[in-house]
Amino acid sequence: MSKSIDLKRIVETLQSVLPKDQEYIALHEPRFSGNEWAYVKECLDTGWVSSVGKYVNRFEEMLQEYTGVRYAVAVVNGTAALHMCLQLAGVEAGDEVVVPSLTFIATANAIHYCGATPHFVDIETRTLGLDPYKLGDYLEEITEIRDSTCFNKITGKRLKAVVPMHTFGHPVDLDPLMEVCNRFKLELIEDAAESLGSFYNGRHTGHWGKLSALSFNGNKVVTTGGGGAILTNDSSLAKLAKHITTTAKVPHRWAFNHDRVGYNYRLPNLNAALGCAQLEQLPDFVEKKRNLADQYNKAFSEMEGVSFFTETEFAKSNYWLNVLLLDEQYADRRDDLLELTNEMGIMTRPFWTVLHKLPIHARCPKMDLTVAENLESRAINIPSSVVLGVINNEA
Ligand SMILES: Cc1ncc(COP(=O)(O)O)c(C=O)c1O
Repeated sequence: MSKSIDLKRIVETLQSVLPKDQEYIALHEPRFSGNEWAYVKECLDTGWVSSVGKYVNRFEEMLQEYTGVRYAVAVVNGTAALHMCLQLAGVEAGDEVVVPSLTFIATANAIHYCGATPHFVDIETRTLGLDPYKLGDYLEEITEIRDSTCFNKITGKRLKAVVPMHTFGHPVDLDPLMEVCNRFKLELIEDAAESLGSFYNGRHTGHWGKLSALSFNGNKVVTTGGGGAILTNDSSLAKLAKHITTTAKVPHRWAFNHDRVGYNYRLPNLNAALGCAQLEQLPDFVEKKRNLADQYNKAFSEMEGVSFFTETEFAKSNYWLNVLLLDEQYADRRDDLLELTNEMGIMTRPFWTVLHKLPIHARCPKMDLTVAENLESRAINIPSSVVLGVINNEA
C-alpha cells in the first residue's frame, strides 16, 4: 500500500486559499458587519431584552420569508428546537427514532430527552447524510407494520420518526427519504441546524419534515449568540410549538395558569435582534461561503490522494463547513494532517466520533454502518468562515 501522499503540499494548497497575514485561522468565525450594534443597542435602550419584544416576531417572519416554510418559532437553541420537534411529532418514552450515526451529539440527545432510543443508520458518500435507499432495505428487513404503526421486530419497540441531518450544509436526498417515511409510517423531522441557506431541488431544506430544527449557535451561517427555531407548514403544530416553548401559559392579563408541562425555551429579544441583523446579510454570507468552497475546489482539483467534498446534482449547499477527504489508502495519515495543519495555525478537526461508537450508545440498535465509519476515518473539516470568502472575492 502506497504511503506517498504529500501532506506538506496539502497544507500549502490550503495556505494558497487562506489569508497570508493571519497567524491563526479558525474553523468558523461569526461576522458582524451589518445592523447588529444598532438593533442590540435598541433592546438595551428600551429595556426589551427578554422573551417579549418586536425582534422575536420579526426574526420569525424573516425566517419564514427566507425559507418559504410557513411558520417559524424561535427558541433558545437548536437542541431545544429538536426536542420540541420530536415531542410535537408524537415521539414518546420507549420509542425508537432513526438517526444517522454521523451527526452532532445534539441530534441524539434530543431523542434521549423524550425517553426514546436513537436507532443508528448509515450515510451515503454523495451527501454525507442519511442514505434513504439503504434505510428502505433495512426497514423492510427489521420492521413490521401493525395498525398503521411501525414496529422493530427485533426489539419489539415502536419506530416513530426519522431525523436526517443535512451534514455541513449538504442536503440529504429528501424525496426518496420521504417515500421511505410514508411507506413505513414514520414521521420525518429534519435536523436543519447546519443547513440554513441550503436548497434541495430548488426548495429550502426544512420543507420536507413535519417539523424541522434550525440552530443559530455562534458557529452557524448566521448567529444569535445562542438560538434555534422550529419550522413547520402546519398551523396547529406551530401554535402548539409557541405555546409549549413559553411555559404553556394560558393567555390572561394577570393569572398564571398553565394547561400542560411547558418549557422556558423562548428566544430572548436581545438574541433575536442580533439574528435580524444577521439574517439581513444571509444571502451575502451564503454567496461568500460558496465562493470559498469554489476556491478550495479549484485548488484541490488536481491533487493526488485527497479531494474537496462538493454538493451533488440536486443540492445547492451553503457550504457551512468544508470537508477534505483523503483517499481510502491514506486514512491512516488523517491524524498527521490534523497535527500538521493545527501546528501551522490552520484550525482543522476530524468529523464527530460516529455516535454508535460512544459508550453511552453501546446498547442502542444500529444497522451496518460501514460508510459512516469509512468517511469518519478519512475526513477533516477545514476553515470555512464567511470572512475567508470575502478576502477571496476581493483578491
Ligand atoms: C447537526 C446539529 N444538530 C443540532 C445542533 C444543536 O444546536 P445548538 O448548539 O444550537 O443547540 C447543532 C449545532 O450546534 C448541529 O450541528
